[in-house]
Formats: sequence, structure tokens, C-alpha cells
Amino acid sequence: MSDKASLLNERVLSIEIARVTERAAVAAAHLRGRGDEKAADQAAVDAMRREMNGLTVDGTIVIGEGERDEAPMLYIGENVGNKKGPKVDIAVDPLEGTTLCAKNMPGAIAVMAMAEGDTLLNAPDVYMEKIAIGPGYPAGVVDLDISPDENIRALAKAKGVKPSHITALILDRPRHADMIAAVRKTGAAVHLITDGDVAGVIHTTDPKNTGVDIYMGIGGAPEGVLAAAALRCIGGQMQGRLVLDTDQKRERAAKMGVKDPKKKYDLKDMVRGDCMFAATGVTTGALLRGVRFEADRIYTSTVVMRSATGTVRWIDAEHRKLDKFHLS
Ligand code: FBP
Repeated sequence: MSDKASLLNERVLSIEIARVTERAAVAAAHLRGRGDEKAADQAAVDAMRREMNGLTVDGTIVIGEGERDEAPMLYIGENVGNKKGPKVDIAVDPLEGTTLCAKNMPGAIAVMAMAEGDTLLNAPDVYMEKIAIGPGYPAGVVDLDISPDENIRALAKAKGVKPSHITALILDRPRHADMIAAVRKTGAAVHLITDGDVAGVIHTTDPKNTGVDIYMGIGGAPEGVLAAAALRCIGGQMQGRLVLDTDQKRERAAKMGVKDPKKKYDLKDMVRGDCMFAATGVTTGALLRGVRFEADRIYTSTVVMRSATGTVRWIDAEHRKLDKFHLS
């Protein structure tokens, strides 16, 4: 394909992936607040898979619903798309924040990222230590290898404020008790979330509106790669390190090509080329509005980004052909 044609295809795809996350979000939103994580996740997976296969790509799922033997659909290694387009790596989380959706709490989203073939980190479904900040800071201002309080002080200095003017977003988990205490000891504020650290990382890119300067802590590795794709598009810094604390996890990671189990990945290691990213709100959160249903319309809010240009598009869609959504 000529450069012009591939650019056009890329632009078209960046809109097409919004359709994919819209479909997944609507399917999940139909089951919001029903207390059934599995059903909501399955509905999102089915809808995403259906829509994904219409994409003009020869895609491979590298971040998906699990390994082949544990996930019937969107499993790691699954070939998706109509095979007529470019070879691409695809990362998906059809329902990021299954509990948020099941309890109808803020912040559940449907997410996907797409990148040139063989450029996304093939991360197993394990935990990842993560640290992320938005754009505008000198490279290396924060680092996974220094303590949480040192990171807060370094960031405050780079921002030209006191540590007490910094807010760190951290998943509310017992494993983070020491980190939370260390951050608070510097005078900084801790913003705790119950789930949803893809959006959590994205919040760091817009501190004026979100009030969040830094994301720290341990969350899912698949979510880490998805968040890295978003930061590759918007700008910012992120490091991640897989938590491979058993032989079984190290073996699984090795099978997926992880040579050094202790490697500290930066953005360019997690997403090694140009990428695009889309997320649609399932329940309303700080990043996106959730799906709204009316008798003859469905409304969705989506953000789509492309790293090639750094364009970030906010798409509010009104859907009228409701049969397309396969809702009963
Ligand atoms: P799910 O949608 O799979 O429930 O993930 C939600 C989430 O909060 C992620 O955003 C986060 O990375 C991960 O779970 C943290 O894992 P854990 O709940 O085990 O601490």
C-alpha cells in the first residue's frame, strides 16, 4: 500500500476502533448495576469481537481476555479482523472495571489499542508495578527504583510546587498501605480508586482538570500496556515492571517472549511504534460519560487518540439503528 493509502487507512481505522469500543460499552452498560461481573464482561467481549472482525486489518490479540486455554474469545494470539489490511497488534479490555459496572459505580470503560505488528509488549495476565506522570516534565523525573516519597519530592520540584500540592492516584488495596503512608508523610494527597487504573494513568495527563499528578502502585499488566498506549498518544512518562513472583508466572512470561523477568519497561518498550487508542465510557466517570439509553436512541462518549499526530478526539455519538447492538 502507498504511504498515502496507509495514512488514509490509519485515519479510517482510528474512527473504526471507536465503533468497537462503543459496541462493547453499550453491551456492558445494558447490564450495569446487575451485580453480575461475568455477564457484563461476557456481553462486552461478544460485542467487541463481533465488531472487531469487520476491521480492515490482519490483527493479532496480544493483550486480551487471557491465554488460549482459558478464554474462548479475544484470547492472546487470536487472529482478528478481515485479514485484508495491515498486520497489527491489538490490546483489548472490553470491560475495564467489571466490578464498577456490576455495581454501577463511576469509571467503567471499554478500551482497545492498536499498533503496528510486533510492537506491543506481550504481557501475561499478572500484576505490574507502575508509575506514570503527564507531559511537560524532564525525562526521568520519577522512577520505579526510587522510593514513593522521593518520587513525590522530585515531581513537586519539577512542577515548582511543594509536595503538599501534589496528588497521587493509587488503587485502594492492602498491598499499597506502605506506599500510601509514605506519600502522605511528604504532605502530598492520595486519591484512592477502587478499580480502573487505565483511566487512572490517563488522569495524570490533565492535572488541571483531574487534580491528579502521578499514578503509582501495582495493577494489572494488561491494563499497564493499554495505559502506555494512551500515554504514547497524549504524551507523558510511564514505567512498568512485571510482578513475576512465582516460577509458574516466570515460565508463562518467558513463553510470551519476556527474556528478563525484572526488566523495567518504559513507554517505548511497552509500545514500540505508532499506535492508536480508544475508550468508551460504560458508567460515567471523570474521564468519560457512561452510555445513556432512550427508547429509540443510545448515546455514547468516546475518546480516540493517535500517536502519529497526537490528536485526541472526543466523540459523542447518537446511535439510532438499535438492532446493530444486539440488545434483547
Ligand atoms: P477488571 O476489570 O479485570 O476487574 O480490572 C479492574 C482493575 O481495577 C484494573 O484497573 C487494575 O489494573 C486491576 O483491576 C487491579 O487488580 P486487583 O483488583 O487484583 O488489585
